[in-house]
Amino acid sequence: MRWLRSFPNFLPVVAALAIGGAGFLLQPSAHISPQSAPVQVAAAHAAAPSGDLFAPVAAVLRHPRCMNCHPRDDRPRQGDDRHPHLQNVVRGEDNLGFVNARCTACHRDENNNFSGVPGAPNWHLAPLSMGWNGLGDADLCTTLKDESKNGGKDIAALVEHMEKDALVLWGWAPGGDRTPVTPPHPEFITQLKAWADAGAPCPTAAK
Ligand code: HEC
Ligand code: HEC
Repeated sequence: MRWLRSFPNFLPVVAALAIGGAGFLLQPSAHISPQSAPVQVAAAHAAAPSGDLFAPVAAVLRHPRCMNCHPRDDRPRQGDDRHPHLQNVVRGEDNLGFVNARCTACHRDENNNFSGVPGAPNWHLAPLSMGWNGLGDADLCTTLKDESKNGGKDIAALVEHMEKDALVLWGWAPGGDRTPVTPPHPEFITQLKAWADAGAPCPTAAK
């Protein structure tokens, strides 16, 4: 059964064959078709046409550090795998949690490096209308910009929120062994402003 033992060595070969020529498209530096953009977060920088200015913004909004607080249901998520929050934590009527599991019973104004509980001022779940998970780029973009959903924020206010809000900034300093949001915050703000300055274009629904 020697061949069995060496079987794992074949897997990459088989995978490479299966992916075929498309494998080259997975290189971050390669040109990416719009269809593959949502999963190709690492390639966001490569986007040149103005229609793709939203791609790097979408990549950040989709980061688990952000998405864990922006679900389209009533459960905050945890971790890079975005599993439902333990202890049966739910949204509650005011996004601050339900009776015995108020967010601030555990989450304080800063990360607790002893208990591992992340924290930032005013820790609570984004309202349902600001839920993003599962949305494609086009829907994510229109939802983000929709003032009836985003708390009445125009584009300038959206940029300011992502520049200064404590919960947003927490994503870059999440404590514990949580993965911080990439790219670095100043670089993200440059990308965000490039999108805003171009009139905040949304990709077409085909995406
Ligand atoms: C601890 C939970 C939490 C985290 C983490 C979090 N948010 Fe939010 N977010 C909220 C809440 C709550 C609001 C509503 C705030 C308000 O209305 O003042 C909000 C609102 C927003 C808004 C404005 C509303 C909208 O729909 O456009 C944006 C933009 C936003 N967050 C971006 C981010 C980004 C980007 C990250 C990650 C870098 C992030 N958030 C991480 C809770 C969170
Ligand atoms: C009983 C204590 C407790 C309550 C109540 C609680 N949390 Fe948590 N929460 C935790 C702990 C502990 C962690 C860290 C888990 C880990 O990293 O393994 C956590 C992690 C999180 C994370 C994950 C951050 C990330 O990106 O990995 C989010 C988001 C979150 N909580 C949101 C909330 C919200 C919103 C509420 C209120 C609706 C809430 N939590 C209520 C204990 C609690």
